[in-house]
This record gives sequence, structure tokens and C-alpha cells, in this order.
Amino acid sequence: MGSESTRWRRDEDHAPSGVDTSTPSPARIYDYMIGGKDHFAVDRAIGDKLMADNPLVRATMASNRRFLTRAVRYCAQQGVRQFLDIGTGLPTADNVHQVAARHAPGSSVVYTDNDPIVLAHARALLADETTGQGRTVIIDADLREGADLLRRPEVRDVLDLTEPVALLLVAVLHFVADADRPHDLVAALLAELPPGSHLVLTHGTGDVLPQEADEAGRAYRNASERLFLRSGPEIARFFDGVELVEPGLTWTTRWRPDPAVPEDDLPGVYAGVARTAG
Ligand SMILES: C[S@@+](CC[C@H](N)C(=O)[O-])C[C@H]1O[C@@H](n2cnc3c(N)ncnc32)[C@H](O)[C@@H]1O
Repeated sequence: MGSESTRWRRDEDHAPSGVDTSTPSPARIYDYMIGGKDHFAVDRAIGDKLMADNPLVRATMASNRRFLTRAVRYCAQQGVRQFLDIGTGLPTADNVHQVAARHAPGSSVVYTDNDPIVLAHARALLADETTGQGRTVIIDADLREGADLLRRPEVRDVLDLTEPVALLLVAVLHFVADADRPHDLVAALLAELPPGSHLVLTHGTGDVLPQEADEAGRAYRNASERLFLRSGPEIARFFDGVELVEPGLTWTTRWRPDPAVPEDDLPGVYAGVARTAG
């Protein structure tokens, strides 16, 4: 791909310390696909393969990111002032704390990821920023810790679990294998959150494009995290016990699109927002 991403690409010799530039990483592949600058040759090779197999994949990933922005705005409009974003990805335009600050000044945000490049860049971004209100932190944590993640002092320091929290699991659960019991992890996290909290979730699927999905699974086989796409019914089970808000579980592009930003109908990533009872 010619493109801005290529023009901005990072030199392997200047990777932040602790970053393995020989193993592709989901965070860097996604960054390449949505036009960021923090990716290396191994990541671009996978991104290019994904695009060769499925010309819609880049637009699908970009639509996932736009959904995230709309969902954070929605939660802010519902009165949520605390956000826990697990698998946050590399900083880009419209990061969660920036969207939250726009629509709900004073919001607190905990970002977590398990990829060292995300941690390095997010720390640099946050150190450079003075939000003046609320608190935003990034911590090195893995979704597979489940509810233990919520018991960490760095998290408890920022989030008050007696007040509603928006739990963001956006394009991350498809990097968790069945063996790690992803549905139990989500249920355990939700069980710790008070009424009025929200679950914001997206997940890739091969329901409509099964062959492309199989190819994508193979493309990630040597990445730091493998890809486990799931069916609509399997993804719907993440919402057991919570109430999906309109329009329910649907393609990212169909979830409350902004009238000013027309979305093509892209059938690759399911998205939903739900509210905990009470
Ligand atoms: C495709 S990116 C999504 C980024 C962002 N949530 C978004 O949707 O725009 C997936 C992110 O999840 C992170 N990730 C993958 N497995 C994880 C795990 N087990 N725990 C925490 N983060 C994980 C990756 O490092 C990457 O940053």
C-alpha cells in the first residue's frame, strides 16, 4: 500500500525499549490499518495480506474506531463519568479520554493493554497532556486477569466502583482464546460494576465472509496474540445478564451512525452497548 501509513512508518532501530519488532503485534497491525505511524515491517506485511484477502478490512477497522467514539459519547450522555478501556490500542485521534472530556468534563479513564508499545506511547501522550480535570492513567494489564484487574490499587485509585463505569472491550475479545474463558472473564468484570454501568463491546466475526475470516485467522498465527473470530450467537452471549440498548447487537456501521458521517454497511465486526440493571 502506498499511503500515509507507509510514509510515516517507524524505523525498527528506533523502537521503544522492550518492543519486539520481529513479532507482529495486533496493536501495531491495527495502527497500520487505521493510518497510524507506530508499526514495523512485520506488522505491515500482515496488514497488506489482510487487505489482499479482503479489500473491506481497512474500512471495517476504521468503522470500529468510529463506533468507539460514538459509544463513549453515548455513555457520557447517559451520565457515565468513569471509563475502563481494556485493550486500548495505540493512541490515535479521538482517544477515549479526549472524547469523554469533550462530552463529560471531569471524567476519569483507566486504559489498559498488554502490549509494550501501547504502554510506551500512551504514557508519553498522557505525560504531555494536561487535561486539568478527571484523571487518566494507563496500566500494564491483561484482560485475562478478569476481575482481579479491578482490584489493582492503580485502578482503585482512579475508579470508584460504587459509581457507574463504562467497561470498554472494543476489538479485544477476539484475541482471547476459548481456553481462557472469555465469557466468564466478561461476566466476572461486570459482576463488580454497580447498576447504571455500561458494557461497550465489539468483536470480529466470519459470519458473512467466512473464507476471509479463515485467512485472517491464519495471518495472525505468528502474532503476539492470535485471532479468534466468533459467530453472532457466541458474541451475543457476552451480553448475558445486561440489557442491550437500541439498536442491539449489530454491525459497527449500523450502531447509531452519525447522520453527518455516512457509513457503508460493513459486515465484519459486531458492536453493542448494554447497561447493567438497577
Ligand atoms: C485491535 S486493537 C483495538 C484497540 C482499541 N480498543 C480500538 O478498538 O480502537 C486490540 C488491542 O487489544 C490489545 N490486547 C490484545 N489482547 C489483550 C489482552 N489479553 N489484554 C489486554 N490487551 C490486549 C492489543 O495489544 C491491542 O492494543
